[in-house]
Amino acid sequence: MTADRTKRTCLAVILAAGESTRMKSSKSKVLHPVANRPMIAHVVDALARAGIADIALVLGRDAEKVEAAAKNAAVKSTVHIQTERLGTAHAVLAAREAIARGYDDLLVVFGDTPLITEAPLIAAREGLADGADVVVIGFETADPTGYGRLIVENGELLAIREHKDASEAERAITYCNGGLMAIDGRKALDLIGRIGNENAKGEYYLTDIVEVARASGGRAIAVAAPEEELTGCNTRAELAVIERLWQQRRRHAMMIEGVSMIAPETVFLSYDTEIGRDATIEPNVVFGPGVTVESGAVIHSFSHLEGAHVGADAEIGPYARLRPGAKLGDGSKVGNFTEIKKAEVGAGAKVNHLSYIGDAFIGAHTNVGAGTITCNYDGINKHITRIGSDAFIGSNTSLVAPVTVGNGAYIASGSVITADVPDDAVAFGRARQENKEGRAVLIRERNQAIKDAKKKDAR
Ligand code: UD1
Ligand code: CA
Repeated sequence: MTADRTKRTCLAVILAAGESTRMKSSKSKVLHPVANRPMIAHVVDALARAGIADIALVLGRDAEKVEAAAKNAAVKSTVHIQTERLGTAHAVLAAREAIARGYDDLLVVFGDTPLITEAPLIAAREGLADGADVVVIGFETADPTGYGRLIVENGELLAIREHKDASEAERAITYCNGGLMAIDGRKALDLIGRIGNENAKGEYYLTDIVEVARASGGRAIAVAAPEEELTGCNTRAELAVIERLWQQRRRHAMMIEGVSMIAPETVFLSYDTEIGRDATIEPNVVFGPGVTVESGAVIHSFSHLEGAHVGADAEIGPYARLRPGAKLGDGSKVGNFTEIKKAEVGAGAKVNHLSYIGDAFIGAHTNVGAGTITCNYDGINKHITRIGSDAFIGSNTSLVAPVTVGNGAYIASGSVITADVPDDAVAFGRARQENKEGRAVLIRERNQAIKDAKKKDAR
């Protein structure tokens, strides 16, 4: 056995075989998203960041989907099905084959605590490296109801008492079991195998490992983690609490890194949202997955972004919608009620009002007038619109794709552009206006005559 944690091998077992009954859902709760990503992926991510490369997934329902959701390039995982749900100790033993491969450390974590970070996981493994057989991750809470209580004396963890089995005095304890623990990997199978099910629920409690280890002369300790990190998800209401905590944490981290948020509590981020320094995010902005915002950009209120890249010093919104494949160049502008989908907007280009730009390329410094629409879909196929740089697209233009507008070209307002426009050309794609002198007077007189006739009839 080596005392240096970084040289010790580790297997993490993720327990996720629960029925998710209280979620009242047709799918496993670990598939429910936090920050637009399945809960279990957050847990795997924390393990990967803690340097753990081997994972055993203990699954029940939706095993294939959960396995796919847990996929992570940094870890190798195996799947173990727990067919009967007889308790957390029984669940760990479902991964017997993986544990028997022989690891220095065995880490047991839950699939439904997505806020866990690497710090407590590393601390728990350090406890093993320092000679403990069992290290339990605990937390202090104002309301310990329902949790297993940690009974600690002189730095030693004597036992974990499940709420249902606890005495009145034990229930007053506020130091609780977060459910996650590290176990000496060489002793784990033997220790867990000796756990019985004589308790209020008739389940094999993993928590009994503390007393089992001590009975054979082993040592158990607890390490404390922030309560927030151990928040478990059992109901949709708890899922919403977890989402809120996740959002708060990430927004705070971004602000510390130099992103301005005027009303952070109204900004929603995804797990992979990246925002550069000196970017400003105004109130009520939603980031779907796959968004990067470069430094100095401003996202005005009520904008919705997904799968989009916003260049440095670009400005979008208010009320802009960036859909997947939107790529906005540095210093570009996308204004109110404009939707951009799978389209590049060149550096310094402007699409300021009420437009739909889809499957398009817009060159640098081109100005796209209000109400411009790319007609990209013919009912079967999508077609591309190409607009060069320094072009001017007049308001209310329809660009019927496939179509190309050259560099420096001008399009007259209200045009329907169906043919390519060469560089530096002016295109009129609308009927010419005709003025009929005095005709309005005749129309007015005729209308008055009709009204008068109607009044006479009614009498
Ligand atoms: C568990 C702990 C409790 C702790 C609490 C923290 C035990 C006995 N109790 O209680 O001390 O305070 O977590 O949230 O460990 N699971 C399986 N198969 C099973 C049973 C459970 O995969 O047969 C999985 C569940 O899907 C869940 C996890 O294990 O992810 C925890 O099980 P759960 O029944 O929720 O334990 P708690 O009663 O919350
Ligand atoms: Ca639980």
